[in-house]
Amino acid sequence: MKKDIGFLRSKKQERQPITVLTCYDYPTACLQDEAGIDIVFVGDSVGTNILGYKSETEVTMADMRHHLKAVRRGVTDAYLLVDMPYAADRDAKRAVTNAKLFLSDGADGVKLEGGIEKVPIVKALSEQGIETCAHIGHNPQIHGSKAATHGKTFAKAKELIEAAKALADAGAKLIVLEKITEEVSRIITEAIDIPTIGIGAGRFCDGQVLVINDILGMGPPFKHAKRYQDYNQLTFEAICRYREEVANGTFPTDANVARIAPDKLARVQKWLKSER
Ligand code: KIV
Repeated sequence: MKKDIGFLRSKKQERQPITVLTCYDYPTACLQDEAGIDIVFVGDSVGTNILGYKSETEVTMADMRHHLKAVRRGVTDAYLLVDMPYAADRDAKRAVTNAKLFLSDGADGVKLEGGIEKVPIVKALSEQGIETCAHIGHNPQIHGSKAATHGKTFAKAKELIEAAKALADAGAKLIVLEKITEEVSRIITEAIDIPTIGIGAGRFCDGQVLVINDILGMGPPFKHAKRYQDYNQLTFEAICRYREEVANGTFPTDANVARIAPDKLARVQKWLKSER
C-alpha cells in the first residue's frame, strides 16, 4: 500500500509512531521499503555522510536529484521525502521551481529547514499543492553540524512553539523537530494537527527519524541515536579478509570459476599450436 499524507496523519491520530530513516541509495531504499519504514527520506546529510563534504551547505540540487532518483527506484510503498539543499529555497519562486524538479524526479514531498522566517516559502509551496515538511530546532544548514539543544529557556521554547504553529498554519504537512527538549517537543506535538518527527527531541513526537549511517554504525556514536550494528568494523573485516585471500591465493577457489568444455578447450589449444 502506498503511504500518503493521509496515512501519516491517521498514524498521528491513532498514536502509532511514524518511522523515518534517511536514505541515499537504491539498495538501502529497497531494504527500507521492504522493512516497512513509513518515510524514506533523502536528506541533505548525504553531503557529509556519503559525498565526503565538510558541510551540508556544499550540497547542490544536482547532488540531491541524483540520489533522489536512485532512492525512487527502490521505493514502492513508503512516502518519499527529499530535502531542499542549502539556498534552494532562498525565495518562494526558487523554492517552487526546485520543489517541482524534485516532484518530477518522483518525490512525494519536500523538506526545508528554518523557523518562522520560512512561513512565506511554506505558504507558496502549499499553494502550488506541494507537500512540505518543515524542520525547526537544530538546522544544520543554518547552525552548522555541531548541534546544541534548543528549547531550554522560556524565550526559546516560545519561539519554537510559535514557529511550529505558524508553519502548520502555512500549510506544512509534517514537521521535523531536531535537538529540542523533550518537554517542548511534547507541547508542540500536542498543539498542532500535523505529525511531528523527532530527532534528538525525546519520546513524545509522532514519529522518529535517524540518519541511516548512525543506526548502522558507520560514523561516530551520538547520544540521540542508537547503533544497531557495527558497519565499520564488519566492513573493515570483510575488506581485510578479501585483501588477504587474494594476496595469499585462497580466493578465488574452484567454486568461483567458470569453465570451458574440454572438447572446446582442446580445439583452442590445437588452433594455438597451428598458429605458432
Ligand atoms: O538531512 C538530514 O539527515 C536531516 C535529518 C537530520 C532530519 O535533515
